[in-house]
Amino acid sequence: MTTADGQHESKRLALGVLASGTGTNFDAIAAAIDDGRLQADIAVLICNRTEAKVLAKAKTRGIHCLLIPHAEFPDRETFDTAVADALEAAGTELVVLAGFDRIVTAALLDRFTNRMVNIHPALLPAFKGTDAQAQAADYGVAIAGATVHFVDEHMDHGPIIVQAAVPVAPGEDAHTVQQRILAQEHRIYPYAIQLFAEGRLRVDGRNVVIDGRPAPDDSALISPPIPW
Ligand code: GRF
Repeated sequence: MTTADGQHESKRLALGVLASGTGTNFDAIAAAIDDGRLQADIAVLICNRTEAKVLAKAKTRGIHCLLIPHAEFPDRETFDTAVADALEAAGTELVVLAGFDRIVTAALLDRFTNRMVNIHPALLPAFKGTDAQAQAADYGVAIAGATVHFVDEHMDHGPIIVQAAVPVAPGEDAHTVQQRILAQEHRIYPYAIQLFAEGRLRVDGRNVVIDGRPAPDDSALISPPIPW
């Protein structure tokens, strides 16, 4: 695209964000857009819960938001069809699940194949489902983390785009672990979306091939750290 003053302007990715809760990931994505790390726009925020704090966050930022309460629909498919219609009406290119607490059915997924991403607060495939941070803490892991992945028909299962690992101390409470994981979620989610915006992601079976990805080095997160 060329602007009025003749400058070249690259096309920005239109995001449709689905969220149900606090919305800190939504905020992290919006902040990354504001400061230029992420070449995208949030075309619409769709929320399924009246009381969700994310709604106020979207309004404060002047982002188009829609409340579509799932409880008003007779089944998952009709709700998902309404959500998919709203996403398409807003021109969504990539669907971003950011704390969206509904299972996504084919009625929605099939309209955004390989164009829907999710963040899960665990190093998948460990600790799928709800309360992943508490599951990890209860299990006594030394390393927890977060995963951004494409969404497929199984819960917390699609091809992995980016993961972050965080150390955990024995007996740490789930809330502390959650906060440490969340801080990394706020870094990796905008980054993964920017990789998609740049057209650098290709799904090859279970693998996500990232164009221009540096080769892994020999560094490691070791928990507890070795003092010698
Ligand atoms: C995050 O922990 C995310 O990994 C999970 O739901 C939580 C959403 O938090 N899918 P927020 O609403 O973004 O603060």
